Amino acid sequence: MSSSSGSGSSGAAGTTWCVLVAAGSGERLGGEIPKAFAALGGRPLLAESLERLDASDWIDAVVVVAPPGWEEPAILLAEELVASTVAGVVTGGETRAASVAAGLAEVPAEALVVLVHDAARPLVDDAILERVLAPLGEGYDGVVPGLALSDTVKRVDRDVVVETVDRDGLVAVQTPQAFLADTLRRAHAGEVTGATDCASLVERAGGRIRVVEGSPQLLKVTTRDDLALVASWLSDRTA
Ligand code: CTP
Ligand code: MG
Repeated sequence: MSSSSGSGSSGAAGTTWCVLVAAGSGERLGGEIPKAFAALGGRPLLAESLERLDASDWIDAVVVVAPPGWEEPAILLAEELVASTVAGVVTGGETRAASVAAGLAEVPAEALVVLVHDAARPLVDDAILERVLAPLGEGYDGVVPGLALSDTVKRVDRDVVVETVDRDGLVAVQTPQAFLADTLRRAHAGEVTGATDCASLVERAGGRIRVVEGSPQLLKVTTRDDLALVASWLSDRTA
């Protein structure tokens, strides 16, 4: 595997790296194997996002963060896909933040932009990559996709409603999330406990995060139903 220079539009060739986190166990999905290797359309779920990111001109190099013990299958998958932008496969950590840190450690100092993506969101595409990467030059430390909430939101204590939260100004945030590389490195150097996304670490460090329109297709595969839904979207497309 080697890194290659793409024609990324967010800077000079070789400057936009992607950390693809795939090291979770997939407890809520269930099953014997980690979620990244669960079958989606006849191949490992990881294949879908990896192939799409590898093919994109917006991304110059990809670091795959694999579950412990699954590094070799991840390398073989990258080889099978002839994913030439895969610069490395590293072992993930106990938490998502630890897995991102493991991936970041593989990103060279020259990288200007780091995009972090959940392998659990297979249907990443160029349109969303452009939406999160393009505004980075406009004075933001990071850019994240968000979707307005359509359901009424309530805060509960066990089974009892405490309050109905005003939905105005609330968004559900997805990945891919794009960051200035130095900002993300600094944010990760601090306390990461409790962070469920990278942007929250950059926010804590005082960074400015822009929200752009996300996509329902960026659904995070969490349960068996999610997996079936994404599989049906994929087969509709190839039908
Ligand atoms: N992730 C990771 N390392 C971890 C935990 C999560 O790389 N220690 C990654 C997952 O592989 C996934 C993304 O972060 O691509 C979002 O996590 P989530 O959907 O919660 O996946 P899992 O943690 O695997 O699922 P569960 O919480 O049901 O166990
Ligand atoms: Mg999880």
